[in-house]
Amino acid sequence: MSLKVLFASSEVFPLIKTGGLADVSGSLPSALQNLGVDIRVILPGYPSVLEQLTDIQHLAILDNLPAVNEVELLLGTIAENQVKAIVVKSALLYERGGGPYADANGQEWQDNGVRFGILSKVAAILSSPNTPIKDWQPDIVHCNDWQTGLTPAYMKLVDHSSAKSIISLHNMAFQGCYPYEMLATLDLPASAFLMEGLEYYGQLSFLKAGIYYADAITTVSPGYAQEIQTEAFGFGLQGLLASRGHEIIGILNGIEPEEWNPETDSYLPKNYSHSKLAGKKQVKKALQQKLRLNIDANAPLLGIVSRLTDQKGLDLFLPIAQNLLDAGCQLALLGSGDNELEIAFRDLATHNLGKASVTIGYNEPLSHQIMAGSDLFIMPSRFEPCGLNQLYGLAYGTPPVVNRTGGLADSIVDATAETIANKTATGFIMEEVSSTALLNATQRALTLYRTEPKVWRQLQKNGMSQNLSWDKSALEYLDLYQSLLESK
Ligand code: ADP
Ligand code: GLC
Repeated sequence: MSLKVLFASSEVFPLIKTGGLADVSGSLPSALQNLGVDIRVILPGYPSVLEQLTDIQHLAILDNLPAVNEVELLLGTIAENQVKAIVVKSALLYERGGGPYADANGQEWQDNGVRFGILSKVAAILSSPNTPIKDWQPDIVHCNDWQTGLTPAYMKLVDHSSAKSIISLHNMAFQGCYPYEMLATLDLPASAFLMEGLEYYGQLSFLKAGIYYADAITTVSPGYAQEIQTEAFGFGLQGLLASRGHEIIGILNGIEPEEWNPETDSYLPKNYSHSKLAGKKQVKKALQQKLRLNIDANAPLLGIVSRLTDQKGLDLFLPIAQNLLDAGCQLALLGSGDNELEIAFRDLATHNLGKASVTIGYNEPLSHQIMAGSDLFIMPSRFEPCGLNQLYGLAYGTPPVVNRTGGLADSIVDATAETIANKTATGFIMEEVSSTALLNATQRALTLYRTEPKVWRQLQKNGMSQNLSWDKSALEYLDLYQSLLESK
């Protein structure tokens, strides 16, 4: 009988997405399914989820839940990859405009604790003797980030689950901390409100709960697995993480070849590959046209697609942007987030018509077009658990300029005389977190781009010929599932 895995996530591409968590929750379950795992994802019934899933059928009503009367469980299929999805349907909790965590103005929903507490609770019930779905009970519940962090706690403390739990850490910066009263609201035992338990500086922490009670912990790159055990990257949980340090497994994310492949990408005006790079020039021209940049094949086009938050380090780019634009570069930025950064980048574009284009918002097609049409991808993140955009940059022949951290350091090989000669170079790494270091790394890239076209082409090919698929990483998750079940 095949292994049954319930994969719990608050966002799953293409149903709903704010960032890389959705990409992973869309593509990893599909890769595991291809390996023979009987996997179902569980996620909230946001409007876009109810609209996009196919073959939706009623599964059960769950009542007696904390904080809400009842929710309905639906079963649907993600058309793109045929992965089955269990939807937690509740008009009260999930059927509203805006995004999964915030309203259309970016204001966080006041009831996020309850919304994701219930998601966590339902995932735990489905792995317990009280599940209403008797014909499909998971052996493993695979949780992701704080939004499903309470699941392992419910499984152990309340629901007497016999399944094993895993928490995958995609970002320690978001922890889901709520006042003590939330414990009662969510029917969690006050006796577990301890330092060795659910308590974190006087509050209930969803993420800590996951880390404390899960049977296994993974992070999305080996580098990040080490970093989060230190004060600089652990966001307060480094001590707990270090106490389970030898158990933390870092597995680098893969990418979905059906979605992110320049040979087949339907968002591009022209497809291309590493043996036919000419098409990339046409994509660049079309992008310049679309974004009202000067049509200039020789102007190095710098691409940025990002959440505009402190994590991504794009404030480091602002002081050097004018310098780069004056030196003949162009900029195509797509992103949204902190108001100050949005305003600063908008100003930059206003003062540099034809040279800098800034699109504030979320735009899936444009994100692909920038990735393909740019010559260099700029990603100076202060920390980056894995990062998918630099991987997309590799696949699209757009070498990334990155900081030496987390998954960026694990996936990019800096271009040096040696790595250029042995054909392993794939991008440019900053030596420290500063504008000067970002400028230096970018200028190293520009020099190669402008003066050594053959070397540049080789660099593109080195990136494009990497195997970035889930093949290897999905097997590592499968090994982990199997070893957890053997340890039962
Ligand atoms: P994170 O999850 O921390 O934001 P990742 O690099 O792992 O960083 O993943 C970001 C994902 O979100 C990528 O798929 C990227 O293309 C996408 N993305 C980020 N901002 C935007 C945007 N404004 N419009 C479209 N896609 C975006
Ligand atoms: C988080 C991280 C990002 C990672 C993504 C998917 O959003 O910030 O680095 O790639 O999760 O694991």
